[in-house]
Amino acid sequence: MSEAILTTNGGPIVDAYAIPLDEIDLSDPELFRTNSIWPYFERLRNEDPVHYCKGGDYGPFWSVTKYNDIMHVDTNHAIYSSEATLGGVALRDQTEGFFLPMFIMMDPPKHDAQRKVVSPIVAPGNLAILEGTIRERAGKILDSLPINETFDWVDRVSIELTTQMLATLFDFPWDERRKLTRWSDVASAGTSYGDEEAEKARRAELLECAAYFSELWNQRVNATEPGDDLITMLAQGEATKNMEPMEYLGNILLLIVGGNDTTRNSITGGLLALNENPDQYKKLRDNPTLVESMVPEIIRWQTPLSHMRRTALEDTELGGKQIKKGDKVVMWYVSGNRDEEVIENANSFIIDRDRPRQHLSFGFGIHRCVGNRLAEMQLRVVWEEILKRWPATPIEVVGEPERISSNLIKGYASLPVRIPG
Ligand code: HEM
Repeated sequence: MSEAILTTNGGPIVDAYAIPLDEIDLSDPELFRTNSIWPYFERLRNEDPVHYCKGGDYGPFWSVTKYNDIMHVDTNHAIYSSEATLGGVALRDQTEGFFLPMFIMMDPPKHDAQRKVVSPIVAPGNLAILEGTIRERAGKILDSLPINETFDWVDRVSIELTTQMLATLFDFPWDERRKLTRWSDVASAGTSYGDEEAEKARRAELLECAAYFSELWNQRVNATEPGDDLITMLAQGEATKNMEPMEYLGNILLLIVGGNDTTRNSITGGLLALNENPDQYKKLRDNPTLVESMVPEIIRWQTPLSHMRRTALEDTELGGKQIKKGDKVVMWYVSGNRDEEVIENANSFIIDRDRPRQHLSFGFGIHRCVGNRLAEMQLRVVWEEILKRWPATPIEVVGEPERISSNLIKGYASLPVRIPG
């Protein structure tokens, strides 16, 4: 590991095996930006799978790094809470900033009632209708790409495609759809500790988002012929129609961020993984039906959300460690997805695995991703359309990816590519 790389705290990134176990802190976003996180996870899985970190910016927290322990936490919501008032579902406490209720940060029964309102958007019948639209739009985006010229795959393909899908789900004014991209980035970015100006600007932008969506709500709340978009569903749903404005904003942001960054980074991560594993790219070109099993493999490999966090509601035991009521427990999906004891050859990207959907990227239990089938469909369609257009020539990654500095969103700011003519 390079000693030249500096962490956000100004210190060098040290060899994961050279420091005492109790000094390992997985929360440093620079470990993710520099892609240096892997030996840390490997060491913890082997030596201390449920690991206590005294904590820096985020206070003390437990890191859960093995597949089965993560599954245990995720499926025991009666012990491990998602409630926003206890801190929410990310390492950084929700209560520290702008308090936005949303159903991913609720326990039953309110969570279940609100989730039920939006679930029909991804019912099989609706997915089949959406597939045609997504295929047509993906085709147009791919047909507009330059040949024999370097361009940014993130901006031209990943962002554009996911933004178009979101605009469709919300029935959002088409020409203004990049607002959704911006609000998603602002909502998920977070600001540095103590940077009050940046935090003020962030909140102002989110309030703009709230005002925009309130307008759309007002237009649709009493529609006599209701559409089947997410805003109409929330405005007319029994469990959501009386939400406070901040709760509406919270749920809107959940749907924007949930459907945006994650799919976007899987589209980018897939192309990168295929370039890093040219034998797999060749296997795919030789047999395009492998797209079906490749898609979940991309989602495992990328793990677009590195972690989800819970708060213990009572004293309990996990992997032989005593967890106290109120403790912060972080499930590192990204590490569980590389757990060799559960997933064979977990550290290899293999597009024709026997059980490709055996991964943690969508979570498990009552909060398992609502959009998981939609995300898979979108990735499948993109790859089918890519292979139709360029069946023999691989799209080449021609420079280093720029990774995002975040311990939550695992993704890319840019990826330079070239389509050979
Ligand atoms: C929840 C990942 C795409 C909407 C989640 C969770 C994860 C996740 C890890 C939390 C699970 C847990 O706590 O157990 C992903 C990944 C995606 C993706 C990796 C793409 C590859 C989408 C899409 C949508 C969406 C396309 C829809 C627009 C949601 C919502 C929740 C959620 C609404 C909250 C569910 C609840 O609390 O009950 N997602 N997601 N996601 N996701 Fe996704």
